[in-house]
Amino acid sequence: MKVAVTGSTGQLGTDVVQVFRESGRVEVVPLTHEQIEIASLESVRAALTACKPDAVINSAAFHQVDKCEDDPEQAFKVNAMGAWNVARVCSEIGAYCVYISTDYVFDGAKQLPYDEADAPMPLSAYGVSKLSGEYLTRSAAPGSLVARIASVFGKSGARGKGGNFIEAILKKAKAGENLKVVNDTPMTPTYTMDAALALLDLIHKRPAGILHVTNQPACTWFEFARKAVELCGLKVDCTPVTSDAFPSKVRRPTYSALSGRRLAEALSRPMRPWPEALRAYLVEKGHIS
Ligand SMILES: NC(=O)c1ccc[n+]([C@@H]2O[C@H](COP(=O)([O-])OP(=O)(O)OC[C@H]3O[C@@H](n4cnc5c(N)ncnc54)[C@H](OP(=O)(O)O)[C@@H]3O)[C@@H](O)[C@H]2O)c1
Repeated sequence: MKVAVTGSTGQLGTDVVQVFRESGRVEVVPLTHEQIEIASLESVRAALTACKPDAVINSAAFHQVDKCEDDPEQAFKVNAMGAWNVARVCSEIGAYCVYISTDYVFDGAKQLPYDEADAPMPLSAYGVSKLSGEYLTRSAAPGSLVARIASVFGKSGARGKGGNFIEAILKKAKAGENLKVVNDTPMTPTYTMDAALALLDLIHKRPAGILHVTNQPACTWFEFARKAVELCGLKVDCTPVTSDAFPSKVRRPTYSALSGRRLAEALSRPMRPWPEALRAYLVEKGHIS
């Protein structure tokens, strides 16, 4: 099976390419931004018809949430129309299409883990553009999969954001700075290596619809940060604060944990608990041995 990966230099894309390649189960075609512009149907058609994949992981996105709020047109060009372009061409060439989406399609009102049947209600331009990408993918490529991930951490760091939350926390902690971390917005973090392993199994099983692909269970950013600091043996104060301490022009869900029940059924195994995934990440990055 041949699998093309858009956003192949990104935080998730890098590990999807590595895990797929190392599995020996698929041939991988990484597509960098230089090789494919998903906002252009012509570019997508040229890139995908040239490599003729059996499946496409569409991980490319404009996901700097603040910038999307300032420039919703660009957010829609990439996250919505880009998704449609990729899905359309997948449909033309008979490839299975996987669109990577986000927990930001929810508003948080549920205050319990969201499952795939819950109605989305995004609060930000980014969230609306990604939800549109979900709908456009599913309508242009029947049989496609929307894989929602959240609070991503992986060795390469987010290209658009210049790193990830854990690296930012550890940088401060290693500099001896005490930490104040938000403790009122539960979420389910996603280790890119684990998401990539799940996606590898999913492209062979080809489920259609939506799946939540995150580590479990829910935690707050404070709990996530405190665990990273503890695992690294760093002695700094870590204080829980409310999100009011970090004012933002972007409305974010106050609760965005995603249920892993349906994924566990689809894979016949659950995603591992986030503390185990975090430990593996810290080893991979050389923070601990
Ligand atoms: N990071 C998170 O916390 C998070 C949470 C939930 C969901 N997600 C979703 O997960 C996916 C992967 O995120 P990530 O953290 O891996 O992002 P990332 O590190 O910023 O990577 C995005 C990739 O997409 C490429 N790209 C951007 N615009 C493109 C375009 N118009 N055409 C083609 N390629 C383009 C980028 O290339 P250049 O850098 O060269 O432009 C980069 O390789 C995205 O769909 C995102 O919405 C992320």
